[in-house]
Amino acid sequence: MSTNFIEPTEDWLRPQRFAPLTVVPLMPNFGARIEGIDLTADLDAPTRAALREAWLRFGVIFFANQPKLTPDHQLEVAAIFGTPDFGSHLVEKAGPQVDHIIIDENRPPQTNLWHSDNTTLPEPSMGTMIQIQDGPAVGGNTAWACTRKAYNCLSDRMKAYVDDLVAVHYWDTRGHKGASYLQAWDEATYFDKIRKYPPKENPVVLTHPITGTKAIYVNETYTRYICGLHNYESQAILQFLYSWIRMPEFFLYHHWKANDVAVWDNLSMQHYALADYQAFRLNQRVTFMAEA
Ligand SMILES: [Fe+2]
Repeated sequence: MSTNFIEPTEDWLRPQRFAPLTVVPLMPNFGARIEGIDLTADLDAPTRAALREAWLRFGVIFFANQPKLTPDHQLEVAAIFGTPDFGSHLVEKAGPQVDHIIIDENRPPQTNLWHSDNTTLPEPSMGTMIQIQDGPAVGGNTAWACTRKAYNCLSDRMKAYVDDLVAVHYWDTRGHKGASYLQAWDEATYFDKIRKYPPKENPVVLTHPITGTKAIYVNETYTRYICGLHNYESQAILQFLYSWIRMPEFFLYHHWKANDVAVWDNLSMQHYALADYQAFRLNQRVTFMAEA
């Protein structure tokens, strides 16, 4: 009986493979800090290619000491990794743009939910880039869980069971007025969203369209049930997968300093923004799609 979560070291994660970047791995096989780079500088093609490769291979990458990005800057930087998309349907937009997620005394953090971004959309966002431009001196960390590693560490029998399952995801998790971000909607807007964004079926184990790696793709925020199972079976399997993903060996925390940037792959990572502070916090976010 195995009790460890040891993956063989992946050859493609050797830091030298990401030259000319300086890459500092943070956890075995996922998470990295990229040093000595200003994201607003005019970056050459090899640097841009290496950044995209680091994003895909490490799942989440961090940049410290960045200038405060304007929304246009952030869209330009996101274009290194993919094509900015419309993001969450919670805010109607005319085109790709950054969101400002503001926490203050009127909007306390309701962010401590494990999830990947926008898994309920017809085309879930592949990547997310955020810059925390202001926040508490302590608290408000973000945790990421590597769902690729979580999948790889399952036993072969469990992998065989979950591999071909399909689950239903839905965005309306708390009902109208149940979440602060929905309270601005009137009744007509709410029912319009329900019509426009029906439940979405996603594989329980997702094969990444670019890297070909597999990852667990159910999350406790949006996944409602697994198709074809009895309700109690579905609940039990989902609870098992959620608790498995939460193993400390699969996650890392980031303690934000102002203007740190994180870029992650929603198809191989989940995240959770800790709700342990009462202070102003400004998160500038853009989500994006990417192609092989
Ligand atoms: Fe999120």
